[in-house]
Amino acid sequence: MGDILELIQSRRTIKYFLPKFVSWENVAKVIDAGRHAPSCGNVQNWKFIVILEPESKQVLAAACYEQYEIVSAGVLIVVCNELEKAERYYGLRGEKLYSIQNCAAAIENMLLEAHSLGLGTRWVGSFDEEEVRSQLKIPEEVRPQAIIALGYPKEIPPRPPKYPLETVVYFHRWRNKLRDPAKYMNDIATILARKASAATKSIQDSTRFIVDKVKKKADSVPTNPVSPDTED
Ligand SMILES: Cc1cc2nc3c(=O)[nH]c(=O)nc-3n(C[C@H](O)[C@H](O)[C@H](O)COP(=O)(O)O)c2cc1C
Repeated sequence: MGDILELIQSRRTIKYFLPKFVSWENVAKVIDAGRHAPSCGNVQNWKFIVILEPESKQVLAAACYEQYEIVSAGVLIVVCNELEKAERYYGLRGEKLYSIQNCAAAIENMLLEAHSLGLGTRWVGSFDEEEVRSQLKIPEEVRPQAIIALGYPKEIPPRPPKYPLETVVYFHRWRNKLRDPAKYMNDIATILARKASAATKSIQDSTRFIVDKVKKKADSVPTNPVSPDTED
C-alpha cells in the first residue's frame, strides 16, 4: 500500500473556488471517505447535509460570519454531530470529546479524498451554530460541527508554516527529547539512507570540484588566434 504522506502534505485550505459543477460521483466519494473514518465503538455519530442551491449557500455563507467565498464552491457539506450516540455508551467523555473527534476524523478523511480527486476544500468551523441549525432544521440534540466547502480551486495557496517534527515530538515523558531518535531506535533503514545521502552529496561535491578545476585549466590555456580552417 502506498504512503499517502505526499497527499497529506500537499492538501491546502482553499480560499477561492471556480464556479464549476462537482459531479455527484465525486461528492459521494468524498462522503464515503468520511463515513469510513474511525469512531469510538464504531458509533458513527455523523450525518452529512449536502447543499447545492446557490441561495442556500448564500445563507450559509452569511451564517459563517460572511465567508462569502464559499458560495462559489460547487457543494457545501454540513457535517452534523449526533452527540447522544457517543454519550449513550461513553457518558460525558463520549459526548464532549469522542463525538467531536469522530466527526473530525470523518472531516479529515473527506478533505484528503477530495484532494486526491483534484478537488479543493475549505474546512469552515467559524459559524453561528444556531443560525445554521435553524436554516437547515437540524434538531436540538444534533450539532452542526463543520461546513466543508468542496469545489475546484481557483488558486492553490502556498503551504503555511508547520512546526518541524522535532519540535512537536517528546519521548517517554513531557518535554523529553532525543537527539537522534533513529539511532536510539536502531532504525537501520534510516541510518543507511542518511549515509547513502551523505555519500551521494560527497560524490557530487567532488565531481563539481574536479569539473571546476578542469574548466579553470582549459580557460587558462591561450587559444590559437588563427583557426586551422582559415585560409589567408
Ligand atoms: C476546526 C477548524 C476550523 C476552521 N475554520 C475555518 C474557517 O472558518 N474559515 C477558514 O477559512 N478556514 C478554517 N479552517 C482552516 C484553517 O484555517 C487551515 O486549516 C489552517 O490555516 C492551515 O492551513 P492548511 O489547511 O492549508 O494546512 C479551519 C480549520 C479547522 C481544523
